Amino acid sequence: MSTVANLPDSMEPLQHLLANAPAQIDATESLADLDALEAELVGKGSPIAQARRGLGGINDSDERRDTGRAINDIAAQLTELLSTRRSQLAAVEEASALTADRVDVTLPGRRPRRGTHHLITQTIDEIVDIFVGLGYTVAKGPEAETEFYNFTALNIPETHPSRLESDTLYLDYGERDEEVLLRTHTSPMQARYMEEHDPPVYIVVPGKVFRADAVDATHSPVFHQVEGLAVDDSITFADLKGTLAEFARQFFGGDTKVKFIPHYFPFTEPSAEMHAFTNGRWIELLGCGMVNPAVFEQVGYDPEILSGFAFGMGAERMAMVRHGITDLRALIDPDERILEQYR
Ligand code: PHE
Repeated sequence: MSTVANLPDSMEPLQHLLANAPAQIDATESLADLDALEAELVGKGSPIAQARRGLGGINDSDERRDTGRAINDIAAQLTELLSTRRSQLAAVEEASALTADRVDVTLPGRRPRRGTHHLITQTIDEIVDIFVGLGYTVAKGPEAETEFYNFTALNIPETHPSRLESDTLYLDYGERDEEVLLRTHTSPMQARYMEEHDPPVYIVVPGKVFRADAVDATHSPVFHQVEGLAVDDSITFADLKGTLAEFARQFFGGDTKVKFIPHYFPFTEPSAEMHAFTNGRWIELLGCGMVNPAVFEQVGYDPEILSGFAFGMGAERMAMVRHGITDLRALIDPDERILEQYR
């Protein structure tokens, strides 16, 4: 226990304070406890502070000096005891904070779930990649299209039923050709592209198309097409067949057979449907044909010099045929279990 020699009688209470301090200080269990005790022992309201304030009242200068020294000595001892305890408590508190915050760096991490492209996107990308491999480039056109590009420029007659509101979603009624609608196919880009570019043309046009259909197993008011257009100075129907047969082999497998059945589209002449033999049966895949000279004239291309073919396929249909999906709604169902099968 600390004591101070030659302590004046007036120091009795401080002597007492010093005698009890070590036990009190040792009893503190936290830095907060210690702060409180420190204020009590050496703070502004403490007996030490009071004793210091009383020094001015001691007239004898020797006595005042001795008393002042004694006070300082006691204060120094208390401060020393407090600071030792402070280091101990700080160490204990830091250790327990570290324990509480401990991270086991050897635990396996929690892997975030990885998303994928939607099957429709994957399918479009794959179709486009096959044609890019054959030398085609990608063009994109507006989804909100004028009646002119969607129909008129493609040689579709004024009276054609596909122009009716029962088939086509109109956005803005206006004069003939100026009307704005949601494009019903990607073919309008044939005309737009040829107006802006000189031949030769080898493009594919992926994108959304819209029709006034209710959703069922084979219909949706929004779906996707990939259009193709090849224009050069000596393109024949054999080029169309060879190109699309090669596409089918790359998309469905190396031995896929295809056949072409006569069909009608106003913007191609002759026109055909390509069917492919997959999963044990023939199935219609896409529409195609040789670009109608009337379309060339419309865009300022000379049909005496140029020839070409065009085709358009539905991306959903291609995905369904390839994966044996029988209900289109599976592709727009947000149930992840469906889409996870096509990662
Ligand atoms: N645009 C046609 C459709 O949507 C498909 C097609 C494109 C046919 C190009 C011939 C040439 O059905």
